[in-house]
Formats: sequence, C-alpha cells, structure tokens
Amino acid sequence: MLETKYWQTETGIGGHGLREAAAALAAGGIVAFPTETVYGLGADARNTEAVARIFAAKGRPSDNPLIVHLASGEALDSLTERLNDIERKLIRACWPGPLTLVLPVKAGAVSPLVTAGLDTVAVRVPAHDVARRLIALSGCPIAAPSANRSGRPSPTEAAHVLEDLSGRIDGVVDGGETGIGLESTVVRVVGDAIHILRPGGVTCERLRQIAGPGVQVMTEGGEAPPPSEGLRDAERQGQSVEFVRDAAAVDESSEAPLEHVRGAAVDSVDRPRSPGVKYKHYAPLGDMLLVVGDDPDRVVAAVREAAEHARRDGCKVGIIASSEHAGRYAGLAAEVLVCGSRHAPAEAARRLYALLRECDRLGLDAIVAEGFPEAGIGAALMNRMRKAAGGRIRKV
Ligand code: TXA
Ligand code: MG
Repeated sequence: MLETKYWQTETGIGGHGLREAAAALAAGGIVAFPTETVYGLGADARNTEAVARIFAAKGRPSDNPLIVHLASGEALDSLTERLNDIERKLIRACWPGPLTLVLPVKAGAVSPLVTAGLDTVAVRVPAHDVARRLIALSGCPIAAPSANRSGRPSPTEAAHVLEDLSGRIDGVVDGGETGIGLESTVVRVVGDAIHILRPGGVTCERLRQIAGPGVQVMTEGGEAPPPSEGLRDAERQGQSVEFVRDAAAVDESSEAPLEHVRGAAVDSVDRPRSPGVKYKHYAPLGDMLLVVGDDPDRVVAAVREAAEHARRDGCKVGIIASSEHAGRYAGLAAEVLVCGSRHAPAEAARRLYALLRECDRLGLDAIVAEGFPEAGIGAALMNRMRKAAGGRIRKV
C-alpha cells in the first residue's frame, strides 16, 4: 500500500501543493488531477515504468492506449510530425478543451505502453487551469486515463478517485468537481472526414460547424446505436458494432427485465479504431436497464414496470430519472435519483457518474434508468448510459 497524498487547490492554483504534485510526476510518480471533463491519473508519458504503474493501479488492459495531455498546443511538435488542415482547424477551435485528436506518433516520442504499440497517439490540451499548470510545472507530456478502477464510472470529484485508488497512487490534486462530467470527444481525421471514435465533451454538431461544408463527420465504434435496429443500421453503413450480445439480453420484449447481464460478453465485430470502446465501462455494481422511447408516458410506464418487477424478485431497486418525471415514480419501493432535466442534457452529463457511484453506495442491485434526448451532449450522455447498462436497453 502506498501513502496517497492529498493536495487541495481550491484556494488557489499556484501553491506549494501543486509544485509537489508536479515534482512527483517528473520523478516517475502517478498522480490524479482534475480536468474539465473528469479526473485523470497522470504519469510522464515518456517513462515506461511510470506508465506501467498507471495500468497496474487501474487494472487496465494493456491494449487500451492512453491520452497524452499537454499544457499547450505548442508542445505538439515533440509528439507528431505535421498536421493537416482539418486537424489544425479543430485544434484552433477546440484547444484548450475536451477534444482529443488521434495523430501519427513520432517514433520514440512516448513510451510504447502509452500507444499500446499503435503508430498513433491520442493528444489533448485540457481546459482546466489546475491541469495545465500541473503539466507545465512537471515539464512532461502527461499520459492520463480517467482516474477510476477499470470498468468503474469515471471520477468527477477527488473523493471518487480516492474511493477507487487510495493506496494505489502517489497522490491526488483536488480541484473540486469537474465541469463537463463526461470524457473528451476522441476523433481521428482520415482524408476529408472526421471520425468520432468516442463521443464526448465536444458535440458532433459543433464538430460539423467547425469543419464546415465538404467535411464529413462520422460516428462509429463508441457511438453505438441502440441494439436491434441499431445493429441493422450499423451493418448497412459498414460500421463496427459495439454491443453484440446474446439475443435474450437485448430482446426488448423480454419478460425478465433485470436478469443478470454482468458476465455477458460485450465485444465487437471488428477491432474498433479506438481500442477502449470495446470494454465494458462506466458501470455501477448493480445491473442496469436503460429504457428509451419518444413517448414520455410509455417510458415512465416501462420504468415503473421494470422497477416493480425487480423489486418482486427481491432486488433493492433504484431509478435514474429526469427531473420532469421523478415525481411519477413516487410510491414505488425504489430510490429515485434525479439526473437532470430532459431539456438540459449538460446537467445530466455532469451528474451521471456521481449518480452511478451513489447507486453503489446505496447498495442497489437493480437500476432502471430513463434515456435522455440525444441532441448535443445528449449523444455522449446516452453513449455512457448504454455502456453502464452493458447494452441492456428496452425500447418502448
Ligand atoms: O476526458 C478525457 O479524455 C479523460 C481526461 C482524464 O482527459 N481521459 C480519458 O482517458 O477518458 P481514457 O484512457 O479513459 O480514454 C482514452 C480513450 C480510450 O477509449 C482509448 O482507447 C482512446 O482514448 N485512445 C487512446 N489512444 C488512442 C489511439 N492511439 N488510437 C485510438 N484511440 C485511442
Ligand atoms: Mg476511462
């Protein structure tokens, strides 16, 4: 067990604590820090031993590469050769900010563990003063996945980091709650198209606007559509499909709303371009069912029915609800957790991971969640909710 140091920064970002954290990073330590999306667990990206400690602390599979965080775009030269026009445009518009670009990597620029042996590296400049100042003080490019145990919801507060990693990392810099609450958007530019490998803080609509006419913005892999019709759509478009599951587990008419799905395989037809999207992610400990549909009354009715069914099966049940519908679950023997308004997906995005952790704290065995509209950040929100549900979705 390591002693995990705790550095408070809410009182200012220039203090001694941040310098100590930066020195720990420069010396091969692994330190968690806030970004505008979620907390990251950082190490010097050039130091293989330090990066190996990240994988060990998280229990992360070694074929899932890490994002390299820079204090500013100027340091990009050391990682990659040359940018094309679209990449330059994206960087100008989005950095610092929640956009990660996958770029050809310069040989030897970072540890091969960071790239998982690929010939590309994922890079971003976070829009969080504490993160940028820490990276600048360390003098290193900082490889940082989200600072959670692999498979768990990403941390949006320092307390979440400690819950998962206390005793396994050298320290955590506390910068309060993160703003966006979901991870960055990961993109790769191929020819004249921007491929979204993982939806996130920068919306698809925004990418279209930045890229302008003539540039296609494509979703794939991480943007898995709901099963059934989703599978057909994806097949038609030749995309890789993320949730290929046992038919019974995705059968919308299944009578057993919350049978065990935790052990079920979630894999993909093809090796996805972003290796991380094939793993089960962001999951609470209880089994989660996601209910989606356009008619709010039908969604509420289906959520109620699934919750009642699970309770009859002896489960401790929770409902993740929109603020508009929360009152309609009163009287059920279920904890009701309000995620946010259906009209303000950014609020739900900010709260989702903390709510999933709350589900665990309450000891819930079964969680029934309402889906949210997919516009804007709603796409990333629903991507994470589908993953948290292990692909178990009921469409009504
Ligand atoms: O907002 C974020 O991006 C947070 C904060 C800490 O910056 N970081 C984060 O890292 O979410 P992580 O490791 O949890 O997710 C990184 C994602 C994974 O899906 C990984 O497969 C993908 O980026 N990735 C990394 N390098 C890649 C590469 N060379 N090619 C394709 N995908 C890559
Ligand atoms: Mg992660």
